[in-house]
Amino acid sequence: MPEILILNGPNLNLLGEREPEIYGRTTLADIEDMCADTAAEAGLGVRCIQSNHEGGLIDAVHAARHSTIGAIINAGAYTHTSLALHDALKSYDHPIIEVHLSNPHAREAVRHHSYLSPVAAAVIAGAGAQGYVHAVEILIDHLTNAKARL
Ligand code: DQA
Repeated sequence: MPEILILNGPNLNLLGEREPEIYGRTTLADIEDMCADTAAEAGLGVRCIQSNHEGGLIDAVHAARHSTIGAIINAGAYTHTSLALHDALKSYDHPIIEVHLSNPHAREAVRHHSYLSPVAAAVIAGAGAQGYVHAVEILIDHLTNAKARL
């Protein structure tokens, strides 16, 4: 079964407990299950990885380059700081959907810039946990209709 990468960055392992007024009460395990269910409807599997380390995220992208067909990424705060993750994602030759539970543009100025957006086919922000499900649907659409879009 072809797989999509669901990659989550620092502090997202604490979802459900961490600042629930911003990030909601859904846990990362619940989100991963929701993504798996949506992907399975399209005959796809998911590879879910979370790391609190920049290098761990980069290693996960490298490892997925030839073994996954698309990626959903919430890089947490590394979104706003990591040129290295941006560079790694440029080596990933499949569609990438950037996700944020909150809407970083409605928050502090330091969260307004994303190093991921220039390499993302789409960005979903502010839709909470459900944003991940939308991201899977959008990724499937990109994978299915890539040729039609050209
Ligand atoms: C986040 C937004 C980031 O600014 C923040 O550092 C996070 C989570 C989100 O999902 O809303 O850790 O990516």
